[in-house]
Amino acid sequence: MEGQVKSRQRVVDHGEVFTAEREVNAMLDLVKTETERIDSRFLEPACGNGNFIAEVLRRKLAVVASRYRKSPDEYQRYAFLAVSSVYGVDILADNVGECRERLFRIVEKDARSNIKGSIEPAFLDAVRYVLEKNILCGDALTLRDASGEPITFAEWSMLGGDLVKRRDFLLSELLEGNVEKDEQASLFGEALMSWDFDEEAQAYLPAPVREYPPVDYREVGRNG
Ligand SMILES: C[S@@+](CC[C@H](N)C(=O)[O-])C[C@H]1O[C@@H](n2cnc3c(N)ncnc32)[C@H](O)[C@@H]1O
Repeated sequence: MEGQVKSRQRVVDHGEVFTAEREVNAMLDLVKTETERIDSRFLEPACGNGNFIAEVLRRKLAVVASRYRKSPDEYQRYAFLAVSSVYGVDILADNVGECRERLFRIVEKDARSNIKGSIEPAFLDAVRYVLEKNILCGDALTLRDASGEPITFAEWSMLGGDLVKRRDFLLSELLEGNVEKDEQASLFGEALMSWDFDEEAQAYLPAPVREYPPVDYREVGRNG
């Protein structure tokens, strides 16, 4: 149990017992292919300091390095894509801070060992910015953040080249799942009025609550 518990009080108050590395890997191996797909999205609700998403990030970065280490530009672009696809929520602010820092260090260390020459500071700034948006302090049961607002997650999509587009979604709507075309009227009726029909997925998907203009991923923080 060493390293799995910070204090008895936290176990009592928040059920905080961290998962051991062996179990994390065994569980992630059940979806191994997804953990090695650079852009597959993972959410760890009740993430603690991020045991699951840290390992997912390591696996994705191993793929990035194996494919792109010879090109610093491509390595950084795909490493950004990898980090922007992991999400976490925890109710305790110190866990959220630890989780963000841990993920940042994983990216920074990986970049230092795989990129010849210096890493672009703007790349590291973009990683920090995305982690602030993707790892949030909130209640995974009520789906509200520390200030009582509905939890909103940013979706980051690479549009080609260095451009990234951000769209924000309510976590509550993302958790509803996709709804097939014929289900709309019968199951959800008017509750789905704000969802969009996606031709590619042939399903109703939640509509974003906010969209941002595409920007160079290294300047992603400029959108506010
Ligand atoms: C059993 S630990 C798991 C941590 C991590 N996922 C792991 O496997 O190592 C549970 C975590 O859930 C957090 N937690 C408890 N209640 C929560 C809630 N309502 N919403 C979000 N996080 C919560 C605790 O702070 C703690 O970090």
